[in-house]
Amino acid sequence: MKKKVVSIVLAATLGATLLAGCSGSAAPAAEAPAAEAPAQEEVKEEAAEVAEEASEAVEASGDLAGKKVGVCIYQFNDNFMTLFRTELESYLKELGFTDITIVDGANDQATQSGQIDNFIADGVDVLIINPVNSSSAATITDKVVGAGIPLVYINREPDEAEEQRWADNNWDVTYVGCDARQSGTMQGEIIADLGLDAIDFNKNGKIDYIMIEGDPENIDAQYRTEFSVKALTDAGLEVNELDDQVGMWDTTKGQELVANSLAQNGNDIEVVFCNNDAMALGALESIKAAGRTVGTDIYLVGVDALTEVVEDVINGSITGTVFNDHISQSHSAADAAANYLTGAGNEHYIGCDYVKVTTENAQSILDSLK
Ligand code: GAL
Repeated sequence: MKKKVVSIVLAATLGATLLAGCSGSAAPAAEAPAAEAPAQEEVKEEAAEVAEEASEAVEASGDLAGKKVGVCIYQFNDNFMTLFRTELESYLKELGFTDITIVDGANDQATQSGQIDNFIADGVDVLIINPVNSSSAATITDKVVGAGIPLVYINREPDEAEEQRWADNNWDVTYVGCDARQSGTMQGEIIADLGLDAIDFNKNGKIDYIMIEGDPENIDAQYRTEFSVKALTDAGLEVNELDDQVGMWDTTKGQELVANSLAQNGNDIEVVFCNNDAMALGALESIKAAGRTVGTDIYLVGVDALTEVVEDVINGSITGTVFNDHISQSHSAADAAANYLTGAGNEHYIGCDYVKVTTENAQSILDSLK
């Protein structure tokens, strides 16, 4: 487990407290301490409470060891979800779970639905699901709730109507993830902050860009596409879309699409927006192959803060990215699963903030990832 303070994790988690970065089921943060020193009695009471919580946590973690967790990932072959999955597994173990099964949906909803059926037949105690198609969420929820199993959705957010059903029926179902509008906005701001003069190489007074999208069924792709451009126009910049292609979150596809677009649009492309870093890495290869140089005659932004990309931001070969905090998200998802099993329960939405990554903070983001 990275970054988080391991020693307080059990007590904090099983006391239904979320770790930094995420919100939703957490109790409001404690107020700033009063100026005077607390009375000795209070200190003793607090110490007793902490000890009690810790012993409850240990007891609960004993219970968790006997619980079966099923995890469905939409596709193992995805850079970001690999980071998420690895951290999720290690943190579930930290919480005391020992019976953890993680399966690969291979980007096929029928395959994943079969895996969910198998988990139900196998009597899992809780499910964590990264759906292949968010639009299948209602069917998945009905099946899982019908079997009396609590459910934590991750990464691909079901629509509003579906989330409303969980609240209306008071089901043990929640979603853990970030608001993709924020990541799109941050991508656009990274570009807008450079200023028109620095970007407008062809001097037409506009930002000429291409967009490389993730899976269009996925709200992350839809929002990042929309909000990155909106941040430019909100900053008073005129935009000109030269190309918009679907790269399905994939490096090779990103590379091919950007190579084609550079061949067609040549030096007119001033900005390459990629909905994620995997595709930005592919884009970078094609930009170099076309003899272009990021920061000199073109700009490139992604989302996720993959280590390689953060290193590229530091060395200037990628303009910026947005940290999609897989550590907070995976911890919150595991915490939520534990909270259902210990009876603490959860809110139906557990959010997490993105962080803008530019040359200014890239090194500290990289340090926190190691
Ligand atoms: C996004 C992430 C992408 C991809 C996608 C899968 O949040 O930025 O890289 O992993 O999730 O749903």
